[in-house]
Order: sequence, then C-alpha cells, then structure tokens
Amino acid sequence: MTAQIISLKNNEDAALELASAALSRGEPIGLPTETVYGLAADATNPDAISAIFEAKGRPRFNPLISHMADLAMAERHVVFNDLARLLAEKFWPGALTLVLPLAHSSAIHPLATAGLETAAIRVPEGFAGRLIAHYGKPLAAPSANPSGKISPTSAAHVAGGLGERIGLILDGGPTSIGVESTIVQVKGERITLLRPGGVPAEEIEAATGLRLARLSGSARVNAPGMLSSHYAPEAGLILDALGYVPGEALIDFGGQIIAGKDEARLVLDLSPTANLREAAANLFDYLKQADASGAPVIRVAPVPQTGLGEAINDRLRRAAAPRE
Ligand code: TXA
Ligand code: MG
Repeated sequence: MTAQIISLKNNEDAALELASAALSRGEPIGLPTETVYGLAADATNPDAISAIFEAKGRPRFNPLISHMADLAMAERHVVFNDLARLLAEKFWPGALTLVLPLAHSSAIHPLATAGLETAAIRVPEGFAGRLIAHYGKPLAAPSANPSGKISPTSAAHVAGGLGERIGLILDGGPTSIGVESTIVQVKGERITLLRPGGVPAEEIEAATGLRLARLSGSARVNAPGMLSSHYAPEAGLILDALGYVPGEALIDFGGQIIAGKDEARLVLDLSPTANLREAAANLFDYLKQADASGAPVIRVAPVPQTGLGEAINDRLRRAAAPRE
C-alpha cells in the first residue's frame, strides 16, 4: 500500500466525501489539525481503532484522543461539570484536550480509551472539525507518526513515516501550531496538567482563575502515555547548549549561539526573533531536518520555559531522554 496524498486546496468537498468513505470502511487516514497531523479513524469502530494501533506500532494500553465536531457532540460522550464547560467554551475549537468521565451512553469504543473510565476529547479547528461534523461520529486520532518518533507537521512527514501503511493522507499544508494539544484532567474544581501543549498553561490559569496542578515523579511516569523517551530522533540530543562542537547539527533559538557556527553541519534557528509561537511551529520539522543531516549529535540552545516554551521544552526533554 502506498498512501494517496490529496490536497485540500480548492478541493474540500471532494476530500470530505473521499475521507468519509474511507472512515466508513474502517480505514485510518492522515488528517491535518491545527496542532499536528493525526492518524484518524472512527472512534466507535473497534477494527478501525485496531488499525490505528497497528499502523503506528503503538502499545494498546496507551489511550487515544477522541475528536469531536463541537461541544454538543462531546456532551454525548463525556460528563462536563461547570469548570470543564467553561474550558470548552473558552478554548474550543482549539489545542486543548480535556480528560473527563466517560458518559454511560458513549459509543466511543473501549479500545480507544484503553478501557479507562475517562476519555480524552477535543474539538479541532478547521478542516478536521468540518470532517467530523460531516462524518457524524467522533474520530480517534493519535499523532500520525510511528510510535515513539517525532510528530508530523506536514503531509510529507506523514508520508515519510506511515506512507506504506495507510491509504489516504489529506494535505492541508504545514500545521499552524506545531506541537500537540495541551491535555488537562478536570476533577471537581481541580485542573491537572497532564501534557503541556499548544494552549499555554498561563492562558488556562487566566481563564479560570485557578492554578494548574502538575504531575510530579511517579504520578507522571504512571500517567497514560507519559513514556519518557518519545519523539526520538536517531541522533543524540544535547539541550541547553551555548557552546558548540564542529560537525554537529545546531538548533538555535533567538540567535544565542555565535561561536563556531560556521563549522556546523547544519544550523537552524527555531525563531531568530525569539518568538515562541514561531519556534513551536518549526520545532518538529527542524528536529527532522537536523536528524536527516546525518550529524551524530543535535545541539539545541536554551528555550524559555514560559508560554509555549513549556511544551517545546517538554518535547525536547523527551527527545533527549535515554531510549528504551
Ligand atoms: O494535538 C494533539 O493532541 C494530537 C492531534 C492529532 O489531535 N493528538 C495527539 O495524540 O497528540 P497522541 O495519541 O499522540 O497523544 C494523546 C495523549 C497520550 O499521551 C495518551 O496517553 C493521553 O493523550 N490520553 C488519552 N486518553 C487519556 C485518558 N483518558 N487519561 C489520560 N491521558 C489520556
Ligand atoms: Mg503522539
């Protein structure tokens, strides 16, 4: 199988039909969202969900996010309290995933939730949201990369990783945010940050007037999907670098590294003007380019820990973690 790549430019209606037909047949498809490309399939169809796990080589105990067309669809699958509804109204459609108690009436298949009593859900922006509305059922979608590899921010990335394992990739151009959604669990009046992502923690705190609880130590390791080595490039990764060794690939931020740059195998700057949004949008593509340069080591300059920097640093730390 080699994936057919369909551009969404001036072609949305045809793409909606083609994609819906594939989803009805239980086939996973490569789908752009505002965060990263997803590998999407019908969240109510166990064969379709199995096909996602198989294509990615993903461990089945790691649950998937179910994507909804809107809050009304989401209310049929999970139980919202006032705080969760406030977050949904403020941040959807968008890069915020809510972990909430599964509703008894939900048709989301237990394979998608790994049998948990909670489900992770979000309403994506743009074409993905329109496709879900057109298809009429939630779509389970992890990032469209082989398990453990860097998430895709372009159709070409999806084709490079999964092109021989899936039939259809929709090409919506590079994704605008570039890192995965922020995941929070809402329990009563408590919001716990499970994964930093495209919505900065500070924005959630400002919208709710609450401080986010954060997982630490063993709670973090035991949370579903928080495997520490993730997003792994082939090259070794050294973070918070200010110096530089010839022959390595260098990923700078805001032009902090000056010495020895001319001897680098490759020099990229996530954002020459030190803009964290631009840096997030470039992050995964630059990691892939640096890896493809053949350099044995990728050295990355320090990135501030504020706003989207929290998500950027989280992904960099996972990419640098010792491999299992
Ligand atoms: O931006 C995104 O979130 C992208 C796009 C495609 O929407 N999706 C994505 O999915 O990043 P994935 O599968 O790569 O990451 C989903 C994370 C996993 O770490 C999983 O363990 C966690 O969400 N998760 C899913 N259900 C959960 C639950 N009920 N409780 C806690 N964590 C959950
Ligand atoms: Mg992923």
